[in-house]
Amino acid sequence: MLYDTNPTLEGVKTIDEAKQGSVFFKEFPAMGNTPGLKHFYIESYGCQMNFSDSEIVASILGDIGYAPTRIMEESDLILVNTCSIREKAEETVRKRLKVFELIKRERPGVKVGVLGCMAERLKKKWLEEEKLVDLVVGPDAYRDLPNLIGGAEEGGRMVNVLLSREETYADISPVRLDSNGVTAFISIMRGCDNMCSFCVVPFTRGRERSREPFSVVAEAQDLFDKGYREVTLLGQNVDSYKWENPESGEKADFADLLDMTARIHPDLRVRFSTSHPKDMTDKVLHTMAAHENICKYIHLPVQSGNSRILDLMNRTYDRDWYMDRMRSIWNILPDAAVSSDIITGFCTETEEEHQDTLSIMEFSKYSMSYMFAYSERPGTLAARKFADDIPEDVKKRRLNEVIRLQNTLSLQHNQKDIGKTFKVLIERDSSRSDKDFCGRNSQNKMCVFPKKEGLKPGEYVLVQIKDATSATLLGEVVG
Ligand code: 5AD
Ligand code: SF4
Repeated sequence: MLYDTNPTLEGVKTIDEAKQGSVFFKEFPAMGNTPGLKHFYIESYGCQMNFSDSEIVASILGDIGYAPTRIMEESDLILVNTCSIREKAEETVRKRLKVFELIKRERPGVKVGVLGCMAERLKKKWLEEEKLVDLVVGPDAYRDLPNLIGGAEEGGRMVNVLLSREETYADISPVRLDSNGVTAFISIMRGCDNMCSFCVVPFTRGRERSREPFSVVAEAQDLFDKGYREVTLLGQNVDSYKWENPESGEKADFADLLDMTARIHPDLRVRFSTSHPKDMTDKVLHTMAAHENICKYIHLPVQSGNSRILDLMNRTYDRDWYMDRMRSIWNILPDAAVSSDIITGFCTETEEEHQDTLSIMEFSKYSMSYMFAYSERPGTLAARKFADDIPEDVKKRRLNEVIRLQNTLSLQHNQKDIGKTFKVLIERDSSRSDKDFCGRNSQNKMCVFPKKEGLKPGEYVLVQIKDATSATLLGEVVG
């Protein structure tokens, strides 16, 4: 899962200010308004799965004559795909709704919809208090959008937040909204059965279900045929992917799915996220080793380095188990980079237990981490069972220590790459200069290098690394 990629919009009052903070404006460059069609404008918050869901939504809306637009003021339908993972994510969405209210005041015909994880949690409140919201649609109810939008157009206030045990949207071909034409995400499963005690996802996204493998492979093949060169297989816990053909009994686990996807073409890179330490098998590691085009990068969130806290978090592994998984990675994939998610200040965490988190970071030598202070989420196991008893300033101080250590580890990790040559898939111009390209190596490190005559995004180049920061490798094309 991913993370608050979006700006907070503290103090936004006008539409122009809003535009500056809008993800859509930054990342959906190619769309303009098409005369004669209705238009929807969508913003997505939170994890990559949400961004991927927005592409499903775009496809469903396309079937009823809605085209995407990046011009919020000219849209007929404004949608916000929401995240509940931490309180801050929810606050960001509330601020955005205030902005949409300004637009609705100018053009009362515009409909506003709240999609995704906050929908289920807050449906009553949205409809009762937030008078501007016309639609509330949960993550498993997007097929109902045509019906719900129809009702909203007739003045209704529509809601469908039913969660499903089956829905995978396998037959819906996503509209790639913010595409660079080179890399794309494919959802291979939905929901989560893990019940980590801090996490709201099992409640907002429902039970885990896996998508039929051949539809995943067909989607990846289609992307490759269209010129894409990298797919990332997405799930809350990809290692528990499982599928069985009810008629033939044929089975596939995640390693099988990886293998099938990697066989599409050696020039199609395959990535995946997120792995769970309790489920990540050596079979997956051996499958990664067997295919050059499966990227040697694993996002393996540890959350905490202390066994008592891991137990309270209901992660179902302990410190030793995690360290054993790291050793397996090093044995089977000596070149792999590993990254993590870390939470500081979980309920009852002592200073010594926090030190265990710092020491497991040093042990694991993460190339990078996503780091968070614990944020109690209503309805979760932790909220029901434990007091959120670590003061905010202590959580923040521990978080800063974790961030400082990670910066050092990232820099050290990257400095070890100076002098090495990597195969890099060119993605786009570097954000700093259009004289440079950027793209990632197999270990998911962003490499920046001067452009060379004839090269373009979607091509592989060999880049020799000359310098490094904690976030980026800087190099030159060789060979
Ligand atoms: N508080 C802080 N961080 C959280 N995460 C999930 N729930 C919470 C919470 N309540 C973090 C975990 C997870 C990542 C996606 O978000 O580290 O792996
Ligand atoms: Fe949340 Fe745990 Fe599931 Fe990840 S594995 S989505 S942290 S419950």
